[in-house]
Parts: sequence; structure tokens; C-alpha cells
Amino acid sequence: MSQEFFSDHTVYLDQAATSRPKAAGVGEAMRFYIEEVCANVNRSTYTPATDAAIHVLETREKLCALFGFSDPTHVILTPGQTVSLNMVIKGLLRPGDHALVSSVEHNGVMRPLTQLLDHGVSFDRIPMHDDDTLDLDAARKLIRPNTKLMILTHASNVSGTVLPIADAGELCREHGIFLAVDAAQSAGHIPIDLSSMHVDALCVPSHKGLRGPAGIGAMLLSPALAKALDPLITGGTGSDSHTEVQPDYMPDRFESGTPNLPGVYGLHAALCELEREGLAWRQSQEEALLKRFLRGLDTIVGIRIIGTRDLARKIGVVSIDCTTVKDNAEVADRLATEFGILTRCGLHCAPNTHKTYGTFPQGTVRFSFNSSNTEKEIDLALEALKRILH
Ligand SMILES: Cc1ncc(COP(=O)(O)O)c(C=O)c1O
Repeated sequence: MSQEFFSDHTVYLDQAATSRPKAAGVGEAMRFYIEEVCANVNRSTYTPATDAAIHVLETREKLCALFGFSDPTHVILTPGQTVSLNMVIKGLLRPGDHALVSSVEHNGVMRPLTQLLDHGVSFDRIPMHDDDTLDLDAARKLIRPNTKLMILTHASNVSGTVLPIADAGELCREHGIFLAVDAAQSAGHIPIDLSSMHVDALCVPSHKGLRGPAGIGAMLLSPALAKALDPLITGGTGSDSHTEVQPDYMPDRFESGTPNLPGVYGLHAALCELEREGLAWRQSQEEALLKRFLRGLDTIVGIRIIGTRDLARKIGVVSIDCTTVKDNAEVADRLATEFGILTRCGLHCAPNTHKTYGTFPQGTVRFSFNSSNTEKEIDLALEALKRILH
């Protein structure tokens, strides 16, 4: 069964796509569920079922603790980030409604919204200033009487730029607009404290910064949004079984069907590991690598770094446009085949982000790292780039 996909010399710098390696204990926890627990939740009371129920509850509680959120019943476990975003967008917006988004959203946001254009929903994009900050004055002017939702990526998956979600939350509060935050690239990398911000939906995947498995995510909902949102998926919840009407209490309102329990065990283990290491430690490690990488890039001719260089509002995602080569894809390909350095090239499911940064349609080479990467790996990537571009 075992096959060597990665050699000792492989340098994985594609953490924005999915984390590698997963947090310590994730694989073992998933194996434990599949081979030893193997029971459903919310339906039975024998011991393995109770163990599963405890893991589900503790996972909600750990997410609350991580994100400064007070109510575990409003932590909805979902099949992943794209599903969470669809649940918010399609569960809320109705014909005649208007939404605002940043100009640097992932297609996880843009495709559901674009799909709704055919159903009488409209949206506008909030521009970025030249210094790669979100233009909140423009956002204010774009608000209409029918604006119901603002959706912002917390950190761009192309440039790593962090958007000011606390300020956006204030603007939304003033105007009675729901704010949904796509924290795909920030959760597990930088602090997010919902107790100090007005955010109605925080969507987080398990498999990126939290270093859990794919196929599970979470949506932390404010009471107001939970009420306003129609459940996209309805069905059996193990509760209120006497009626064919979906329960309206939380979290059952949004959690129908048997959940991804191996995923819950894996995410639970990943959150335990994050608690052990500490978010502050992970953040400082990642920032040190980012600083080292940016400093190194400055010594190489023929590279344009996309987006801000301000470390206070940038995560470990760095996109470069290689100005002296015909095709950025060739650089990524040579990094992988000649040096074993794995990055991601192209448009990163975010065409308008590249239009915003002037890198459409050629795309960029994206390096993304987290605290499991090392200074040596950063240096190897820099040395390889030097050799390719010399
Ligand atoms: C900013 C952002 N939003 C949404 C997604 C979609 O996440 P997933 O593919 O895990 O559903 C991604 C994935 O890269 C992302 O970077």
C-alpha cells in the first residue's frame, strides 16, 4: 500500500492549498474512529455513540475557545469551506437582495454569488487602494437600501494580504448588514477574536491552517444570522423525529444527515495540537519565515512581489510574478522538477484578485508556508529561484 510520494528532499510550500503534514495525532484519531468507535451521533446512547457525541461537542467548544465565541450551539459543522460559504450565500440572499464583496475573493465566494445573478441577486466589489488596503470609504458609498450581506476574505489566498474585518464589521453594524468572513487562509495562522468584532458568520476549513483533515469545516453564526438564514440542506437530525419539519433550534437547524465523524475526530486532534503549540507561537514562527523569504526575494532580480509587504497585515502566502521569464508556470514547474520545491502556479481560483493585482491572465507563482516549515526550506526555495532566474 505504501508509496513514496514525497522524498526527503521535497520542500512543501503549498500550505495555502492544504496543510502538510497534518497536525500530530490527526491520522491516529481518524483511525481510532473508523476502527474502534464506528458509531453514529445523536441517534443512540451506547458507549461508542457517546464517545462520538463528546468529540462533536468538544470540537465545537474548542472552536469557540479559539475564535472568542461564546455559544457552541451556534458552531455548525459542515462538509468544508466551500459548502459553508454556499450555505451562507444561498441561505440568505433572495431575489432583489444586494451583496458587497472585496475585489480579492476566492471562487468559493464568487461562483455562488455569480450563480445568484440569474436569480435576481446583485453584488458590487469593494476596490482596494493602491497600498493594498480595502477601500472602506468606497464600500460605504456602495451600500444600498437592499444591501443585505458583505462577504470578505480575511486573508487573500493570492497575496496573503489581511483585510480589516473589524472595521468592516463596524460599517456593517451601522447599516444593519450581515458580515460573513471567509477565514480559509487565516484560521489557525493569525488570531481571530469574535468577542471583539461584529462578524455574523465566520467560515473556517479544517484542512488548511488548523491542519486537520479535508471534508469538514465550521461556520460560527451570530444569533441574528442563524435566524435569518434558511438551511440549504434539511433532513434527519436524530431530534424531533415525530415531525417532518426541520427543527429550528441550533445546531440541528443546519446539521442534517450523518456528519463526517472521522473528520470530527481528526479536527478535534488538530485543535488539541494547536492548543498545545499555541497560536501565538505558530504565528511568530510563520512571521519569521515570511520576513526571511521577503528579504531573500529582494536580492533576486526579475521578481515582482504581489500585494503588501507590511508584516502586520500579511500571512505566509507570497505570490510572485517573474518579469524576466515568458511564463510563470515554467518557473513553478522547474522549482518542482529540478529542485523538489512544491508551489502553486496560475490563478488560484481567484481571477478577479489577479485582475486587481495586474497579474491576469498570466497568474503568479505562489509560495505558502506555515510554522511547520523551516528556515532551511525557505533558503532552498530562494536558492532555487536564484538559479532559475539568474
Ligand atoms: C480564500 C479561500 N476561500 C475558500 C476556499 C475554498 O476552500 P475549500 O476548497 O477547502 O472548500 C479557499 C481554498 O483555497 C480559499 O483559499
